[in-house]
Amino acid sequence: MAVYTLPELPYDYAALAPVISPEIVELHHDKHHAAYVKGANDTLEQLAEARDKERWAALNGLEKSLAFHLSGHILHSVYWHNMSGDGGGEPLAADGVGELADAIAESFGSFRAFKAQ
Ligand SMILES: [Fe+2]
Repeated sequence: MAVYTLPELPYDYAALAPVISPEIVELHHDKHHAAYVKGANDTLEQLAEARDKERWAALNGLEKSLAFHLSGHILHSVYWHNMSGDGGGEPLAADGVGELADAIAESFGSFRAFKAQ
């Protein structure tokens, strides 16, 4: 059975300040993300127990709970690596992020409109 673990932050709590305070980074990592990891592991145990005891009616709800907690875990994991204390501003092809700039322009019309939304 898979066991999920809370990944280490790729930087310290203060790395995204002043845009995101150290307290908010700590809250999202140590509370939110940790709770999603614990929830996924707890749900996996509950799923195994339900299967062992042939409580098939419980599976649908437990699978939804597992999807909820795993998406929280994965989205937070992506979130940590998409931010940087050195980042910000409009993505430009010259910076090697032309596909992102193109997708923003296609979906929102402009970076300004994207930022406004
Ligand atoms: Fe969060």
